Amino acid sequence: MADYEKYKNKERKTNHMNISISGTGYVGLIQGVGLAKLGNKVICIDIDNEKVQKINRKEAPIYEKGLSALLKQTVGKNLKATTNLKKAILSTNITFVCVGTPSMVYGRIKLHEMERICHDVGEILKEKKTKHVVVIKSTVLPGTTESTVIPNLENASGKKFGKDFGVVMNPEFLREGSALEDFFHPDRIVLGSSDPRSIAAVKQIYSKFKCPIIETKFKEAEMIKYAANSMLATKISFINEVGNICKRMGIDTNTVARGIGLDYRIGPQFLVSGIGFGGSCFPKDVLALVHKSLELGYHPRILRAVLDVNKDQPLRFLDLVEESLGGLKGKRIAILGLTFKAGTDDVRESASLSIIKEFIMQQAKLYIYDPMGMPPVKTLFPHLNYMKNAQEAVDQSEIVCILTEWPEFKALNYGTKMVIDGKNIFDSDRRPQNYQGICW
Ligand code: UGA
Repeated sequence: MADYEKYKNKERKTNHMNISISGTGYVGLIQGVGLAKLGNKVICIDIDNEKVQKINRKEAPIYEKGLSALLKQTVGKNLKATTNLKKAILSTNITFVCVGTPSMVYGRIKLHEMERICHDVGEILKEKKTKHVVVIKSTVLPGTTESTVIPNLENASGKKFGKDFGVVMNPEFLREGSALEDFFHPDRIVLGSSDPRSIAAVKQIYSKFKCPIIETKFKEAEMIKYAANSMLATKISFINEVGNICKRMGIDTNTVARGIGLDYRIGPQFLVSGIGFGGSCFPKDVLALVHKSLELGYHPRILRAVLDVNKDQPLRFLDLVEESLGGLKGKRIAILGLTFKAGTDDVRESASLSIIKEFIMQQAKLYIYDPMGMPPVKTLFPHLNYMKNAQEAVDQSEIVCILTEWPEFKALNYGTKMVIDGKNIFDSDRRPQNYQGICW
């Protein structure tokens, strides 16, 4: 019996697996905590010692609903964090690779962290007697697992993929703010590999999940992730484009979105118009796919348009504010919301920041509040006015801009101040007295 089969049978009996997670950022930490909650023994690995210590003290290094509570339940029991990659790999059978793949200019993704980790894991596999499976969770362009991951592992270990170790591409579909909910209740799980035994090993980890598990080739799994994010981003830019037309015609885009979303072929999700999509995923992933496509000699017109509409959407918002005030210079403006969406402290690619930059250029006076996003923005713009609470920002200003859909912004006293909403936060019968939506 191959090592690998023995290992599978042993795991079946104990009903838990020994899993390491390399890269304890957003994706890795949720994966680690989620798998530990399901009863697996999990070791999270990171090069950042401070983060490792924090996790071991049961403190969440990022804000995410439910994360703190789950860390308290699992750390010290079946979850721990370490900087020692070697020990972690040698004492586990499966390693999830969850390192970042950030964009360079023009969208090409940086693979240096992925290359480093595959090389380092490969060196350790050289010494490992039992079979190990490496699972790629990081978002990588189609072809990367075969052109970069496997060669790095093989070169460093002197071993052969398929025979001596396994590799699976298993993209993640977690949304920030509801990542744990998404982890425990996925719509589908995608497992891509050319080695059926690698897939079988990873499938076991997900045996408790009720959703369909799709088995694919490496490239298909990689592409599913990019195509899913591109489709969702397309829906948003589509409804923003429809919304920009509606606004000019005095039509409420929300009613139109509801009217089309009830058609089951269209669906209601991701049809909320506003200041455009942000975050660390949609802007980066659509751009990376555009870049790859251009490299291959195909001009991706729809995806280019999705990015163009999204880039311009904050400008639509600025136009509305400028029109309402008759100019921006010296005007007192409340900024409610900095994060790219509610439920997170993440401000990466936030449309709010593009809007703030423009206001600063136009010499407006800003009164800023966000329940979670102020610390990271203070480091970028230390000299701005950060308010203690949202009401204070409203009270200081002559116009209010709603740029993140934090629920607390619905309950403020806006009086007769003009409120410009870029995130569609109010029910139509509960809007402030003086109110305009970006597309409604
Ligand atoms: C997105 C995907 O939804 C996840 O499935 C995926 O795993 C993740 O990217 C990733 O690739 O890691 P996320 O970036 O956390 O997740 O956030 P979303 O909830 O998708 O929102 C993205 C942006 O679109 C936000 O700025 C949000 O405000 C905006 N949005 C979303 C709209 O403007 N309208 C909508 O109807 C929905």
